[in-house]
Amino acid sequence: MPLTANGAATAHSTLGADLHAAPEVHSAIDTLVAEVAARSARLTGARPPRAELKETYESFMKRAADVRGRALLYPYLGSGLGNGALVELMDGSVKWDMISGIGVHFFGHSDPENIRHSLAGALSDTVMEGNLQANFDHYQFGETLLSLAKRNSRLAHCYVSTSGAMANENAVKVCYQKHAPASRVIAFKDCFMGRSVTMSQIGDAAANRVGVPLSTQVDYMPFYDLVAAQRMGKKRYIDMAVWHLMQYIERYPKQHACFIFELIQGEGGFNVGDREWAEELMKCCKAHSIAVWDDEIQTFGRTEQMFAYEMFDLGQYVDVFCVGKMTQICATLFTPEYNPGPGLLSGTFTGGPALFATGTRVLERLRDGNFYGPDGAFARHHALFRQHAKALAAKHPEWFPPVTGPFGPAVDDIVGGVGGMMRFTPFGGNKDKINKACKTMFEEGVVAFYCGHGPYHLRMLPPLPVFKESDWPAVFQCIERGLARAAQ
Ligand SMILES: Cc1ncc(COP(=O)(O)O)c(C=O)c1O
Repeated sequence: MPLTANGAATAHSTLGADLHAAPEVHSAIDTLVAEVAARSARLTGARPPRAELKETYESFMKRAADVRGRALLYPYLGSGLGNGALVELMDGSVKWDMISGIGVHFFGHSDPENIRHSLAGALSDTVMEGNLQANFDHYQFGETLLSLAKRNSRLAHCYVSTSGAMANENAVKVCYQKHAPASRVIAFKDCFMGRSVTMSQIGDAAANRVGVPLSTQVDYMPFYDLVAAQRMGKKRYIDMAVWHLMQYIERYPKQHACFIFELIQGEGGFNVGDREWAEELMKCCKAHSIAVWDDEIQTFGRTEQMFAYEMFDLGQYVDVFCVGKMTQICATLFTPEYNPGPGLLSGTFTGGPALFATGTRVLERLRDGNFYGPDGAFARHHALFRQHAKALAAKHPEWFPPVTGPFGPAVDDIVGGVGGMMRFTPFGGNKDKINKACKTMFEEGVVAFYCGHGPYHLRMLPPLPVFKESDWPAVFQCIERGLARAAQ
């Protein structure tokens, strides 16, 4: 079977299809994959840096900082080899990668299938494909994604791109064109959308747009706050959210092109939305001709359903949708009504054959695995994560003081998130302490990160499909050592 989408080898096939189906090619790929696997298998657990590599590693770090113009946040330079959730760095250390490139390497490091499909893609005639000249693998990726998206939404078309920010740029243009001349957007407090000029304006973080001229008109809504909803009563809370939205709509009639929903906030703090709340806001958008744009660049694939809109049963409301990170290729999907006119979406390159082949395979693996649902692998991992984090808090209560905000408790629990989005909140969510914990945990063998804008949380996006349930104790031992040092 050919590994790329350019057709099967038959008596009537092309020379290109013959190449991809050739037994010699398959056997060469098998040899390479086996070679990687043999070395990868030697990485079996976290280990400290090797003293004899220290000097060279420091010189590589300095070269990297010189290129970047600033020191790297983590002293992370991969060696190019890993084994599932384990990654080897150039200093010979091995770490548990619990953030996976902020969610990109969902199938971990040195994954045999990813390597196999990258190699097959690399045999294509070009390194990049673009809007004008593409092979079918480009459309097969979109076809596969759409076949999954269509199961529970009206999304019908797909335009691919090379970053989440670009997928979002394409999405906002689609919304603007459909609702022209409406020029305002509605977004949630603490949202993150990427770092292009427009997206860093919509994203709710002042530090990410220092010096960027403000040309996009954004109205912010509060994100779902479970603690406040419990305090006020849920119905009253939702009524107030709709009332808040209506104020914007009445203040700027017919001027909003879209409302951007991140149903579970990523950078904003792994805050989980609520079905009824989101549905009432979406209904309000529909009634006032405002596009419902669902940004699933961080959530896709890792909640308890493949799509977060499926988890909340809100697919019928979604007009425009974005995906990225674990799909390797980013994409903007839209319903027939939002299909833009010619010229709005294009690009010299949209991705390369190795990425299309790997991205398509990622989608198939997500589809065919036993990952989703309340008893699926991701829900089981999430439950284990919670158990371990709570056990750590019970053992060291002094590391887990209450997390308070301006109106009392800021979170309902010290653990949060859903599926493969996992957060926990030591040190009362204090920014400096959480930053310090990221660094000490890194030194102790776990790569994690933070999220939130106050309270701050420790965040993990583990490579769940390749992470074993039996790996959790080893990861939490590293976390415990890291927190002990951060607590000092
Ligand atoms: C929700 C969301 N949207 C957009 C982006 C931007 O994606 P990229 O960094 O690939 O441009 C991110 C990245 O973290 C994200 O989490």
